[in-house]
Amino acid sequence: MAQTNSSSATPAQAWDKRGWRAYPRVQMPDYPDQPALNAVEAQLAEYPPLVFAGEARRLKQSLAAVAQGRAFLLQGGDCAESFGEFSADNIRDTFKVMLQMAVVLTWGAQLPVVKVGRMAGQFAKPRSAPTEVIGGQELPSYRGDIINGFDFTPAARIPDPQRMLAAYTQAAASLNLLRAFSTGGYADMHRVQSWISDFTGGEEAARYRDIADRISDAMAFMAAAGVTSATAHDLGQVDFYTSHEALLLEYEEALARIDSTTGLPVAGSGHMLWIGDRTRQPDGAHVEFCRGVQNPIGLKCGPSTTAEDLKVLMERLNPENEPGRLTLIARFGAGKVGDHLPRLIQTVQAEGANVVWSCDPMHGNVIKSSTGYKTRAFDSILREVREFFAIHRAEGTIPGGVHFEMTGQDVTECTGGVRAVTDENLSDRYHTACDPRLNASQSLELAFLVAEELRSRRLNGGQQAKAS
Ligand code: PEP
Ligand code: CO
Repeated sequence: MAQTNSSSATPAQAWDKRGWRAYPRVQMPDYPDQPALNAVEAQLAEYPPLVFAGEARRLKQSLAAVAQGRAFLLQGGDCAESFGEFSADNIRDTFKVMLQMAVVLTWGAQLPVVKVGRMAGQFAKPRSAPTEVIGGQELPSYRGDIINGFDFTPAARIPDPQRMLAAYTQAAASLNLLRAFSTGGYADMHRVQSWISDFTGGEEAARYRDIADRISDAMAFMAAAGVTSATAHDLGQVDFYTSHEALLLEYEEALARIDSTTGLPVAGSGHMLWIGDRTRQPDGAHVEFCRGVQNPIGLKCGPSTTAEDLKVLMERLNPENEPGRLTLIARFGAGKVGDHLPRLIQTVQAEGANVVWSCDPMHGNVIKSSTGYKTRAFDSILREVREFFAIHRAEGTIPGGVHFEMTGQDVTECTGGVRAVTDENLSDRYHTACDPRLNASQSLELAFLVAEELRSRRLNGGQQAKAS
């Protein structure tokens, strides 16, 4: 096994994109047809990368600003993208809600918001059990559309490597659209009024319109003073990045490339990759793969993350202590943040590690509703976010971002919110291929509540605390 104590070797020297194959792997499929798998891997290795090294480097710089409290990270999108729900409208609507949320957060924090979609690659899912039993029949679990099919039939559940090609194609088309929306005029700040979703009503829509009116006034003033989208580039477009869990390592390896500028390996499947709570074994295959690519890396930290694990993982994933390289995504569950986050923050501080702290208030808060649906209560989500902010305030550290499972669609998957979704409503529009998502209206409401936290932090001068 390769030595991962890299004080004498840079990751590029000690790392090979196939190296993960020698490490224990979990949560990955066993493909029954090896020749078919090899053929797909060879094909993908010839395809163009979906993202470019310079873009990943730019995101890393933006995340370095987040780590220092000079920007805020908003990461969001589907739990699992699916082939069936793929459409231009779905992509546009999620993008649009993220723009709305970014406006609200920028307004509250008076900081730039770094926008990262769980999009264009978020297809593979870790599962809590390898098999699923329905009506007495036991079949392999669904592992995301890039691996097998959702239908509960023996044929659908066989891992099929051809699905990687379909996922690549869908990711490429999604990115094409996202690039067009980001730079082609749709995201021009002058259109801030138009981003509100038709089905977002009530108080949060009115509050959004109020901010949008004030931004429009400010832009009218700036235009009179000669500042327009044509003269100020940043008003006319946004930087929008993609991310996903680097779970299916055959796919990640096949899309890894060498960055011609630095000569270092880079993942070509998305700008940012993260390691899930179930695949973060310090000596496992997923950590081994991720340590060698220069993209920004996220690391989910759950209740079982020990201080010692975190120390080893930080050393392995960010041996140079580069700001922006590592984002720690805390996901403990409402009521439990205080049991776990302080010790991890203290480890980070003791190591002098440069990290972004982000809050995923989704994955520790999944419950089964009285009507049998997997759901999350809006109040638990909000409570975890508040606990995350409070603990950072107490520790004098920087709450750098949030990580949500959300959609621009008017789904009924999470309960609560101002336009309250109840247990009985869940069946109305429950479309997720995996975990329940916030709908457009709940997402915007949450953005306002996070913005309030950021605003009070700003007014209390919290941003300066321990920012280096
Ligand atoms: C996810 O982000 O969809 C996920 C499975 O998260 P975690 O690894 O934190 O459970
Ligand atoms: Co999920």
